[in-house]
Amino acid sequence: MEKYLEYYEGKRVIVTGGAGAVGSNLTKKLLSLKAFVIVIDDLSSGYEWNLPQDDKNLLFIKGDIANDVDLKRVFNEEPELIFHLAAFFANQNSVDYPEKDLRTNGFGTLKLLEYAKLYGKLERFVYASSGCSIYPSDAPMPYKEELTNMYMTTPYQITKMLGELYCNYFKKVQGVPTVKARFFNSFGPGEVPGQYRNVIPNFIYWAKQGYSLPITGTGEETRDFTFVGDIVDGLLRMGFFKEAIGEEMNLAAGREVRIKDLAALVNNLTGNKTEIHFLPRRNWDSKPRMLASNEKAKRLIGFSPNQDFEGCLKLAIQWFDENWEKIKESADFPPGVSSAVRG
Ligand SMILES: NC(=O)c1ccc[n+]([C@@H]2O[C@H](COP(=O)([O-])OP(=O)(O)OC[C@H]3O[C@@H](n4cnc5c(N)ncnc54)[C@H](O)[C@@H]3O)[C@@H](O)[C@H]2O)c1
Repeated sequence: MEKYLEYYEGKRVIVTGGAGAVGSNLTKKLLSLKAFVIVIDDLSSGYEWNLPQDDKNLLFIKGDIANDVDLKRVFNEEPELIFHLAAFFANQNSVDYPEKDLRTNGFGTLKLLEYAKLYGKLERFVYASSGCSIYPSDAPMPYKEELTNMYMTTPYQITKMLGELYCNYFKKVQGVPTVKARFFNSFGPGEVPGQYRNVIPNFIYWAKQGYSLPITGTGEETRDFTFVGDIVDGLLRMGFFKEAIGEEMNLAAGREVRIKDLAALVNNLTGNKTEIHFLPRRNWDSKPRMLASNEKAKRLIGFSPNQDFEGCLKLAIQWFDENWEKIKESADFPPGVSSAVRG
């Protein structure tokens, strides 16, 4: 086993948002490496069934990262590392509920960092940032870490950036060993579909039911879809390699996929024969293409993402097949949305 993986054996690790799409994958991986994992999650967009139910190395705390009682409870467990993934997710949700977004993503992140500073014994604080929040829509591609943006188009983008700014302050002035991981469109097993979720789980959910897939825009738009297993691997590397401390790094596949091609592939892999249809692009969606450079993460921490997009998509679909009843019960759509697009 590689050193950065061996390092986690016996480590006490907090995963905030550990019942979520990325957090549940990270928690399972840490458990497989024999870490002791303390999950704090308020289950606002995560699901307890997404985590192992009877692992003695997992302590699940239903709690809020902006609440002192809950924070005292988790820090009482004497963590050595924190992976901070809890968030009010994501763009459209924050447009609809900007104050809830600020409370969790801004205030909650600040509180965690304050506790981390007071506690004083953390080896690493890894923050889940967001590539779509940080880079301007006219930035040259592939996006490099030094680019920044003052003109965000959603409250979520503002508060994910705010989290990075707090990490910088707590690293530079307060000595907390922070690292900022900039995710790009994570996909894979573990993401339950819903009105505020990413395009891939929603496409799979609709395609499996024979619905027409809705594309907001022309379908020529691209995204740098990154397999969740690679994001988890990048996070584990950030928790181990000293070179990561104080840095920000893109965790991206470094590959563009057109939304039209994605829809065709999902339909093909699920056997959905219904034609796609088009809806207007959302007014905050200012990035027709997205492609990130992963050179820095490769250089500093040896990040090496999987390039087999179709193979990874099949793993996501397999997870849907294996958990279909639970996914259907949990999928969070307002009444009528899915039926409106039935082919
Ligand atoms: N999924 C992506 O494509 C993507 C892209 C960029 C950045 N990110 C960031 O990565 C992280 C994980 O994303 P995800 O896709 O797993 O999202 P998710 O919504 O599946 O997970 C977030 C988890 O945080 C929990 N949570 C929300 N508010 C909380 C609070 N106040 N206290 C405790 N728990 C709370 C939710 O219940 C959920 O389980 C987030 O910080 C997100 O902003 C994700």
